[in-house]
Amino acid sequence: MKVAGQHYRTIWRGQDGSVEVLDQTRLPHEFSGIRLKTLADAVTAIRTMQVRGAPLIGATAAYGLALALRENPNYATLAQAYDALLATRPTAINLKWALDRMRDVLRREPMETRADTAFATAAAICDEDVATCRAIGEHGLKIVQELAAKKTGGARLNVLTHCNAGWLACVDYGTALSPIYLAHDAGIPLHVWVDETRPRNQGASLTAWELGQHGVPHTVIADNTGGHLMQHGMVDLCIVGTDRTTANGDVCNKIGTYLKALAAHDNNVPFYVALPFSTIDWALKDGVKDIPIEERSPVEVTHMTGMGADGKVATVQITAPGSAAVNYAFDVTPARLVTGLITERGVCPASTEGLLTLYPEKLGFVA
Ligand code: MRU
Repeated sequence: MKVAGQHYRTIWRGQDGSVEVLDQTRLPHEFSGIRLKTLADAVTAIRTMQVRGAPLIGATAAYGLALALRENPNYATLAQAYDALLATRPTAINLKWALDRMRDVLRREPMETRADTAFATAAAICDEDVATCRAIGEHGLKIVQELAAKKTGGARLNVLTHCNAGWLACVDYGTALSPIYLAHDAGIPLHVWVDETRPRNQGASLTAWELGQHGVPHTVIADNTGGHLMQHGMVDLCIVGTDRTTANGDVCNKIGTYLKALAAHDNNVPFYVALPFSTIDWALKDGVKDIPIEERSPVEVTHMTGMGADGKVATVQITAPGSAAVNYAFDVTPARLVTGLITERGVCPASTEGLLTLYPEKLGFVA
């Protein structure tokens, strides 16, 4: 996608052989990159959320393995790097998917060529993610077109999204935002309600920023506003991303997604989830019981970061000293609340049967 007219991906190989990523902890106030030179740099980038979003975590982990093997291409390094990267964040299954794919390829590779093959495989994962997200956009575009056709008098379609499932969360295009970009580029009049997404504000800081860079009309709302908007007919469609989707179609996404799905269900607003195949965990069949939910520092709840009138970025405490806080980063939306899953292979019901119509080769893998 473009930033100030220039095309960017979120991750790319630097000229000195290092890996470059955009530092998402500095957006929207500063657009800057970081150079990852070692495994430790990649681990830190994922853990501190300089890179975040399920597909991008996977891509960064793949490059993290390659950086480790550049230092020492033996089997012990491969195993240690795999474990270190897998431990960075627990919920998004794309992390494990990417690491497993890398390890499967690299285990069979002779030591002399292992590092080069690791970088080539990581690059392939990134290129495939771009094609996958583009395909998600094309399938989602049909849904947007159908709903837009029902609007009268050229009224714009109002889409609500949660967290950031745009190109910043992937390598390019995004998942939930990919159909929105393609629809906007096709001239469909639309407007996006952007949930701020407390506590880390990925909606306010990242989604609003990237929609703005692409010229998509949008409005940031407090997280609790969606239900009110839906009751008043001000939302035509919800599209969100997911960090892990179970084989029965339960969807785990940023905390607060479940509440939006409940409100959408109560108000007959279509609630779609956009995802690449790498987000499906075929081994699980009950999202609420089985998906590990990341718990992050309470400081993300008790404090907020923003830019002051003096142009300086500062962090302030918003709670009374001594108040306890808890920070669950994700929740699970049961399949029954999901209108459909938008994948790179098409749109299907959120169910095992639905998923298997698109991925018949997974029949034997379903729990
Ligand atoms: O904690 P984050 O910012 O990594 O969470 C990201 C999300 O919840 C996204 O919605 C999800 O990864 C889908 S992204 C394509």
